[in-house]
Amino acid sequence: MTSEIIQFHDLHPTQADFEREVLTGLRDRPRGIPPKFFYDRRGSELFDAITETPEYYVTRAEIEILQARADEIARLVGTGGLLLEPGGGSCAKVRVLLEGLEPCAYVPMDISRKHLRMAAEQVAADFPWLEVHAAHTDFTRRMEVPPTAPEGPRVAFFPGSSIGNFHPEHAVDFIAAVADLVGPGGHFLVGVDLRKEKTLLDAAYNDAQGITAAFNLNLLERMNRELGADFELPAWRHQAGYNEAEGRVEMHLVSTRKQRVTVAGDVFDFEEGETIHTENSYKYGLDEFDGLARRAGMEPVGVWTDQRGLFSVHLLQNMALDET
Ligand code: AVJ
Repeated sequence: MTSEIIQFHDLHPTQADFEREVLTGLRDRPRGIPPKFFYDRRGSELFDAITETPEYYVTRAEIEILQARADEIARLVGTGGLLLEPGGGSCAKVRVLLEGLEPCAYVPMDISRKHLRMAAEQVAADFPWLEVHAAHTDFTRRMEVPPTAPEGPRVAFFPGSSIGNFHPEHAVDFIAAVADLVGPGGHFLVGVDLRKEKTLLDAAYNDAQGITAAFNLNLLERMNRELGADFELPAWRHQAGYNEAEGRVEMHLVSTRKQRVTVAGDVFDFEEGETIHTENSYKYGLDEFDGLARRAGMEPVGVWTDQRGLFSVHLLQNMALDET
């Protein structure tokens, strides 16, 4: 195509990973599948619909914070930087920051190829002055800047409390990897969901319209479509709830009867009530998260919450001295 308005970079093939990680996760005890595989085309659409349910406060609270603090954030971060967004497949929240940050280029990185391309093209169309490099990659495996992206002070943006998908120890590793990615002096703007009352959290992951349930169950349909699996959807049920002791919302797919399923030629037997653990969504206190950031070698330089105190946005900086 000659009319490209973005640069598209295929940095990592992901289809073979799906089969391998699913088979490993189903053989494991307890069984689990990484949440990154929710996001095929249908899953990405369902996730966007979740963000509009009355119960899922996360997205609205974060946008409230970003809108109220965009100028302040831009002052702290500075303009002309290279703006990187791991998992930025829908390029939605970044729009609030673009006018203020005036980055030299924007680099969304995502596992969902088509979703990424369409969203990146839309951002490029809406912000004609902005250079956009879309990187198709699984950032949980590898984060790298596309070779032709321009140089500038780097800032990574990781909204939505996606960091909650990592176990706290892995969140530290991830923040350290982002510190490397942005380099000395670089910034990390990250959305973190706060610990709160169980009733609010349970409702947010069990919306009345059943969209979160459909999002969870779509993983079974995706395995049927892409891995030749034969999951019978009526024999599975969505389960989600806040595990207060662990500080996380857990999502599971529950087998409602004893059953045998074939996935990519492998046979799996499930007991009645046995679950596949599909997601953890960790919640943090403000100081608790700052502690993780410091352990990862980054310094908290700003933190903001919404009016209701449901959600937080942290600005971290890599304080290492540039030795080059
Ligand atoms: C995209 C990981 C931030 O944990 O709240 C929403 C995903 N799962 N409802 C979250 C999700 C069920 C979401 N993150």
